[in-house]
Amino acid sequence: MTATRTDRRERLDAATAHLEPPFAVIDLAALRANAADMTRRAAGKPIRLASKSVRSRAVIERVLRLDGFRGVLAFTLPEAIWLARQGTSADIVVAYPTANRTALAELAADAGLAAAVTVMIDSPAHLDLIEKVAAGLADAHPVRVAIDLDTGYLGLGGLLRAGARRSPVRTPEQAAALAADAAGRSRIRLAGLMAYEAQIAGVGDNPPGQPVMARAIRYMQRRSAAELVTRRAAVVAAVRAVADLEFVNGGGTGSVAATAAEAAVTEIGAGSGLYHPTLFDAYRAFTGRPAALFALPVVRRPGPGVVTALCGGYIASGPAAKSRLPRPCLPAGLRLDRDEGAGEVQTPLLGAAADALRIGDRVWLRHAKAGEMCERFAELHLIEGDKVVATVPTYRGEGQTFG
Ligand SMILES: Cc1ncc(COP(=O)(O)O)c(C=O)c1O
Repeated sequence: MTATRTDRRERLDAATAHLEPPFAVIDLAALRANAADMTRRAAGKPIRLASKSVRSRAVIERVLRLDGFRGVLAFTLPEAIWLARQGTSADIVVAYPTANRTALAELAADAGLAAAVTVMIDSPAHLDLIEKVAAGLADAHPVRVAIDLDTGYLGLGGLLRAGARRSPVRTPEQAAALAADAAGRSRIRLAGLMAYEAQIAGVGDNPPGQPVMARAIRYMQRRSAAELVTRRAAVVAAVRAVADLEFVNGGGTGSVAATAAEAAVTEIGAGSGLYHPTLFDAYRAFTGRPAALFALPVVRRPGPGVVTALCGGYIASGPAAKSRLPRPCLPAGLRLDRDEGAGEVQTPLLGAAADALRIGDRVWLRHAKAGEMCERFAELHLIEGDKVVATVPTYRGEGQTFG
């Protein structure tokens, strides 16, 4: 392990010797290996690429050229419109509902966009909003929509809840009623259904140093998966009785194989597994290779066993917890300071490895989540072996910050 890490550090340092940190890199061999493992686990079902977990148009386009990936799962409608107009994909599903009237008007007014982009709905209010915007246009094209299903797990008679608080649509009856409502509106076209099981796909079942928590998570995930396989199939059948569905999207990086095995699911939505950030180290079902890293310069040495690096406070979203901090990765044997964490401008790094570091050396860290790292950097340096083979902009680098 240490020898491998040393080789890796030498390789990354050699490839980027001409760059001044802070900067971010993508190790292309690791990215390709992760992509191949994800498609292997998807077992023939296409993976719709979750763009929030990549946040670089150039990288999204590279991944879409790989076998097994098809279409984009975007996170906002302005983003989807931008990607469609740039020619990144002609098959984009926005995974979260929009209340952006301007973007909806832009979508409905353009035949090409309206054919390429599907927006998420989970209530008649979403349909009303779309219709109202379309009614204000001289020439509106039908807006493609997909129904978002609540996949959350309810245990102990509803006392225990696991899952993201998103859609209110839970039962086959509720889904069929919303589908019938959508199908009856001339300005709407029901195209698909999405059922993302966050409590399985996005929660690692092997949290480090927490054996009791690990057992509780595994229990919840077993129960939730068993409940969902039946309910998801029933919901899909009920909606298909009302309207043809082009796709049923489910899953995420943490559940690719299990979700792909469900007959009712036609495609997987995933992206984080490509970069393999630290939160995805905590799964038993797969092992990825860290593909996204950032380098910080060592700028001072406060004393024995500690160096201080510039910046680094790139905290991941979600519940504020240690797991959301970036993690020092190379050289091996560095850790964050418990009191200071990862700092706004300076990050102390503790450990025996610090004593071998000099001012101007670089340290390598991993983000806890995937695409969020890109909100801190304008560029990604793409590394092949010990060379930077391309430097591409992130969304931020293209002046695009969608949320
Ligand atoms: C709707 C939806 N699908 C899929 C995913 C999985 O994405 P990833 O594989 O990047 O974790 C997410 C992540 O939050 C999501 O919200």
